[in-house]
Amino acid sequence: MTQLPTAEQMDAWWMPFTANRAFKASPRFYTAAEGMYMTMGDGRKVLDTNAGLWCCNAGHGRKEIADAVHAQLLEMDYGNPFSYGHAKGFELANRLVEDVAPKGLNRVFFTNSGSESVDTALKIARQYWRLKGQGTKTAFVARVKAYHGVNWGGVSLAGLTGNRKSFGQGLEADFLRHTLLPENAFSRGLPAKGAELADELNDIIAMRDASNIAAVIVEPVAGAGGVIVPPEGYLQKLRAICDQHNILLIFDEVIAAYGRTGAATMADKVGVIPDMITTAKGLTNGAVPMGAVFCKQEIYDTFVNTGEMSAVPEFLHGYTYSAHPIACAAALATLDIYKSEQLFKRCDEIAPYWEAGIHSLKGIKGVKDIRNFGLLAGIDLPPGVAGKVAAKTLDKGVTVRPAGDTIVMSPPLIIEQSHIDTIVNVLQDTIPEVD
Ligand SMILES: Cc1ncc(COP(=O)(O)O)c(C=O)c1O
Repeated sequence: MTQLPTAEQMDAWWMPFTANRAFKASPRFYTAAEGMYMTMGDGRKVLDTNAGLWCCNAGHGRKEIADAVHAQLLEMDYGNPFSYGHAKGFELANRLVEDVAPKGLNRVFFTNSGSESVDTALKIARQYWRLKGQGTKTAFVARVKAYHGVNWGGVSLAGLTGNRKSFGQGLEADFLRHTLLPENAFSRGLPAKGAELADELNDIIAMRDASNIAAVIVEPVAGAGGVIVPPEGYLQKLRAICDQHNILLIFDEVIAAYGRTGAATMADKVGVIPDMITTAKGLTNGAVPMGAVFCKQEIYDTFVNTGEMSAVPEFLHGYTYSAHPIACAAALATLDIYKSEQLFKRCDEIAPYWEAGIHSLKGIKGVKDIRNFGLLAGIDLPPGVAGKVAAKTLDKGVTVRPAGDTIVMSPPLIIEQSHIDTIVNVLQDTIPEVD
């Protein structure tokens, strides 16, 4: 049994995205994780509807990943990734191009997190335009309610006020409206109305001029903002406007990639291919920090295969732990599991049962909207209620995540129908108890 810390032993750790004083007054611990379940400090097992934090797509505690990490640690723990390569880095990039990235996005830059993937993509976009002789293209367009991580680029493009208001000025950015429309309430899958919201990009372009805009970044399905599903045709329109005005389109798929929407990427699921995709989380099943940016070959060629060969790195960017051998080993083992257990297809197959279960909560007192896509769901509740519901469901053996006034869920893709029944039953019991 893990020995839990006493109150005095909890002072040193400044915990992330946590109300530290409140936590330390009333702490909650996890001690173990396996399959669909987390074990709490008091020994209770709770059903994890969030795959950790949108990341353990193959379920918790996968021995194949642990074994691969252990073997890699013994073979080569680490090596300088700047101007040296190692076999697993190349193998992983090839596997991602073959099995995950949409056709045409066949170059991969490794990072250690979603935030780093976002900042990497933004830097690629700016340098790309300089290399093209269009160095005035520096501004970005993002969306209200977006979450793009916590590094400077991601914070500048955050559409969640709380995540940006304390940090002052960041990168220059304009914001498209989010696509949550009251007339789409309780839609299943992609909502029917609202594709024309993408036309606001034309207004921003008219004001800024395309000669000043480097890229548009969107989560194709927004996660932390409350599982906001794009209206049918919306992403297609964004793609068309970006093409028309020579602006790069970046999909932030840190949540959506690796099967969560029933395909390797949301780009593939909806048939809209951006110029770059940022990923992390499900890449290693959450077991080791790692991210990856998928890029169109033309972008890579503009950096690497233009002009004379030289000894100067084409992109002065990288992390000490880019393509860390341990992370590569974990990612390769994860991709093996996704493939052998056909988890992306499995998500697609069980998604209708998930959709039916989650939407059966319509009509319960307080439920204002329900949204779903793949194995994602968001349930809007009255102000202040979501956190209380989450605390109560935890007592009943189900952990759900409050994001503002929305309960968001993204269970491991190994979920069974019986787990879905349990989640729905517990929510059905709990939501009316709280106001
Ligand atoms: C869409 C999106 N982008 C970026 C991030 C940041 O990822 P990380 O926390 O690994 O830095 C997240 C995290 O949830 C995310 O959902």
